[in-house]
Amino acid sequence: VLKAAIFDLDGVLVDTAQYHYLAWRRVAERLDIPFTIEDNERLKGVSRAQSLDYLLLKGNKAMPADKKREWASRKNAWYLEYLSGLNESHLLPGARLYVDSLKKTGVRIGLGTSSRNAGIILERLGIQKWFDAAVDGNMVAHTKPDPEVFLKCAHLLQVQPEFCLVLEDSTAGIQAARNAGMPCIGIGDKQVLQEADLVVSDLQELLSSTAYKEAFP
Ligand code: G6P
Ligand code: MG
Repeated sequence: VLKAAIFDLDGVLVDTAQYHYLAWRRVAERLDIPFTIEDNERLKGVSRAQSLDYLLLKGNKAMPADKKREWASRKNAWYLEYLSGLNESHLLPGARLYVDSLKKTGVRIGLGTSSRNAGIILERLGIQKWFDAAVDGNMVAHTKPDPEVFLKCAHLLQVQPEFCLVLEDSTAGIQAARNAGMPCIGIGDKQVLQEADLVVSDLQELLSSTAYKEAFP
């Protein structure tokens, strides 16, 4: 039985994954590092600092800590620029309906994101009240695929990990769920998210999925 659902934010509830992509691509261009869609998949779910480290490693570039901080904050400034127009229309298909349907059956709702911008995003969309517990990138020491963010959220929800269902669009996040001992639904491409228990293209599709109803009655 399902007692809680823990949602990733970017790319699961809100259409912000594209903005992270655009901002990282700008960084990569400026640093003259090739940046592919596969690279972008690797960055999803991963903290800002570790994402930059990944890019630098790929470009075979060493950088002192103060420069890294500069580039990370430049990336975030670009990201925040993209976010400036964010509103309810950026909620992803089925998000509100699925959360409502879970709440009706007494399932507790959690947020488990690597983002340090989660507060702003929830506020912009007016969805803070959806969550019984929220854990973001400011509250953890280790980024996904480390299970910390999900375990912390489960702890706050007072639900055992095996009764928490994770909803994730990133490979790092799906691995984090696995590492936390939680079942996991992938949101996105089946080819990319193979390690999830079930993959759907969005939460709208999940609402009508018979495979989902059978696995999580
Ligand atoms: C999410 C996104 C990542 C992003 C990370 C940190 O997990 O999927 O692409 O790097 O959050 O986000 P932040 O908003 O703190 O830069
Ligand atoms: Mg995500």
